Amino acid sequence: MKTLSLLIVLGAQLPLVTGIFMVTAPRTSYIASYGNNITMECQFPVESNFNANQIKVYWHYVLDDGTSRLVYQLMNGKPVLEAQPQEYRERAFLLLDELRRGRAVLEINQVRVSDAGTYRCLIDLNGVDYKETALEVRASYKHIETIKTKEKKETEFVCQSVGYPLAEVIWYYANGSDINETANTTHFTGTDGLYNIRSVLRIKAETNDAYLCMFWNKETNMNTSAILHIKEVEKTDENYDKFPSMKRSYLIAAIVVPVTILLGFIMIVSCILKSKQSEQGIKRISDTSSLI
Ligand SMILES: *[C@@H]1O[C@H](CO)[C@@H](O)[C@H](O)[C@H]1NC(C)=O
Ligand SMILES: *[C@@H]1O[C@H](CO)[C@@H](O)[C@H](O)[C@H]1NC(C)=O
Ligand SMILES: *[C@@H]1O[C@H](CO)[C@@H](O)[C@H](O)[C@H]1NC(C)=O
Ligand SMILES: *[C@@H]1O[C@H](CO)[C@@H](O)[C@H](O)[C@H]1NC(C)=O
Ligand SMILES: *[C@@H]1O[C@H](CO)[C@@H](O)[C@H](O)[C@H]1NC(C)=O
Repeated sequence: MKTLSLLIVLGAQLPLVTGIFMVTAPRTSYIASYGNNITMECQFPVESNFNANQIKVYWHYVLDDGTSRLVYQLMNGKPVLEAQPQEYRERAFLLLDELRRGRAVLEINQVRVSDAGTYRCLIDLNGVDYKETALEVRASYKHIETIKTKEKKETEFVCQSVGYPLAEVIWYYANGSDINETANTTHFTGTDGLYNIRSVLRIKAETNDAYLCMFWNKETNMNTSAILHIKEVEKTDENYDKFPSMKRSYLIAAIVVPVTILLGFIMIVSCILKSKQSEQGIKRISDTSSLI
């Protein structure tokens, strides 16, 4: 709140000082990839007698209602880390070496979806001025998980992926032709702010056609896709195969073990019988020999 009221006071003085000291924003917007680092900057005039111990730099995140929240604060050349909210701790820095070159560069590491929005840099040196710049965050739907399930009279194809902003899922034949069936596409927002999208296409009757699901991110104009083919189901689909193969090994064990025991038993019994027979034979032979 203190910085907010300070900002208002400073803002009110702005028309008086802009002629003397002016901050510029070289870019009005930046695009960051989710999880990556981003630097945003404001520039200001430095004089030959520049003393880093005299500069005050404030980077704020501007909320929709016009209020703002502190991201980073530098007071007389020293970072005021205790004033930094938890979500920016050890994640938002000012590149101090750049100050002497007239650049107030804010670096944010491991960009989150919640970092998207408007930022304001306010610099107090030989006067006070500020500028605003926007940050967009993107996460592409690059990993598409596919699931294929073949039932008696229907086949289910599923594509799911995670990204930001929200994408639309369009299904085609693998050759690019439109399909008549409509898919059921649903999504939820994860705790990380990313969209988890799941699209289910059910095909009536058996099909050997290959299908393509495409995640169309309108805002970023980026498309990612995956091809699903039912013929692969028998061979490669894990969900389809894992369980039956386990069942199969049980089945094998259930058949092989008793059969082996039974065969062994039969062999032992036949051996005993044979040896008894041959003993009898020997007896008979000896009997006959004694008779001779
Ligand atoms: C982001 O910055 C951190 C700290 O400076 C560094 O360790 C990391 O490698 C950087 N990540 C990327 C993707 O550049
Ligand atoms: C694309 O494939 C579908 C299904 O196999 C077929 O009905 C359609 O005619 C094909 N379209 C073209 C342009 O080849
Ligand atoms: C798809 O729908 C169109 C019109 O809605 C129809 O003319 C076409 O025959 C249908 N195609 C298939 C393969 O059912
Ligand atoms: C679409 O899928 C969701 C979630 O599985 C389900 O609740 C909903 O009823 C489905 N809608 C249609 C039209 O099938
Ligand atoms: C992505 O797909 C949409 C819908 O088919 C298309 O209008 C758009 O041009 C595609 N964008 C790119 C970059 O391929």
